Amino acid sequence: MQNSTTGCGPNEWLDVDRRIIWHPFTPLGKKEPPLLVTAGRGAYLHTYDGRAILDAVSSWWVNLHGHGHPEIAKALAAQAETLEHVIFAGFSHKPAIELAEQLQSALPFPQGRIFYSDNGSTAVEVALKIALQYWYIFGREKRKVIALRGAYHGDTFGSMAVGERGLFTRPFHPLLFEVTFIDFPSPDAAENALQQFRSVVENDDVACFIYEPLVQAAGGMRMYSADVLERMLGYAKEKDVLCIADEVFTGFGRTGKMFASEYLKQPPDLIALSKGLTGGTLPLGATAVSQKVYEAFEDVGPERTFYHGHSYTANPIACAAANASYRLLRQQECQAAIARISRLHADFVMKIHSHPRVRDARSLGTILAVEVEAGETRYDNQIAADMYRFFLDRNILLRPLGNVIYTVPPYVVTDEDCQRIYTAIADFLDRL
Ligand SMILES: Cc1ncc(COP(=O)(O)O)c(C=O)c1O
Repeated sequence: MQNSTTGCGPNEWLDVDRRIIWHPFTPLGKKEPPLLVTAGRGAYLHTYDGRAILDAVSSWWVNLHGHGHPEIAKALAAQAETLEHVIFAGFSHKPAIELAEQLQSALPFPQGRIFYSDNGSTAVEVALKIALQYWYIFGREKRKVIALRGAYHGDTFGSMAVGERGLFTRPFHPLLFEVTFIDFPSPDAAENALQQFRSVVENDDVACFIYEPLVQAAGGMRMYSADVLERMLGYAKEKDVLCIADEVFTGFGRTGKMFASEYLKQPPDLIALSKGLTGGTLPLGATAVSQKVYEAFEDVGPERTFYHGHSYTANPIACAAANASYRLLRQQECQAAIARISRLHADFVMKIHSHPRVRDARSLGTILAVEVEAGETRYDNQIAADMYRFFLDRNILLRPLGNVIYTVPPYVVTDEDCQRIYTAIADFLDRL
């Protein structure tokens, strides 16, 4: 059977795309067609019309080692020929076991367990559900959930509920479960946020606290101090509140360490992982669970069983890709690249922060953010669309969050590529 694109060119393909596909986070009435990508190599995306675009956002923050990495490609091709998928209830396989072992050895708590799912939102859902069931098992009336204002934890109902209530979630507000939000602990609001936190946990009815450690990503790459978070975790532990670190964005070297939780002395009880887990090749989620928590479930009884699973839980090809990516990440060359990018970003922050059109410039590891002095700092600031076009015209993919320009490049990005990004940002600011 022929489909309507057989034998057609890119314009016809895009026409079919426009008529049939619904793209994420994209208004259906948007006139501009998407860019048709034919290949990805290293830090570059190649389009049908011959452009090479620098992927300065790692394709929604997932890519670590560049596109089309031969070792990851080889590993997943070999796995596809051996075992492409198998139900993960009552069955297991080597790629999942090997990956769990690798993750366990890197976790900030000893002897953690890995519960697989297939994306960041599900990794968060799993963490929330395990935390709530944990207290149910003990027959404790601890159901309150704490989160930070400005958070983003995903698009499923549970992960939406613990995120900032705003533009993304408004149609669903009446259906989201109640969450106590603590003010974002920026330097001038930190003491107040700590007091709020302390008074909420005082009541002994809090089940868990979920947070993006040190950086609120979609919230505008907002960074906050390890010291404040450490104190929040301290209060939480005193009151038996389970702590969930959402490291979906910060995991796998983004902040300069394997996990952002490594900047803290207090380990969380659960960690949500995805994005960089497979090096950006295939969807996979993992929720790491500390010994204290999973021990509560150690029984064959139905009350202690976690009745949760997705059809593609622990897909073997995705796990094989993750194992290959993890080996690359551990290599000296990759660690040196992370340190190199971190230094370049920090130098650029020093240079640009006094620019008259910069409200704030900050970096942590391989994450760089420049908050532009233009209207309110919020996601729907219209300057984002102008900036996106400005950078894309220079063949750089940057997708500002409102007036916040940020880059999280793949770790294979060269010094010259980084300078290209910085020059484009500076040029944009000079034009304002
Ligand atoms: C911190 C954080 N948690 C969860 C998610 C949701 O991940 P996914 O898009 O894979 O569902 C994201 C996505 O951006 C994120 O940044």
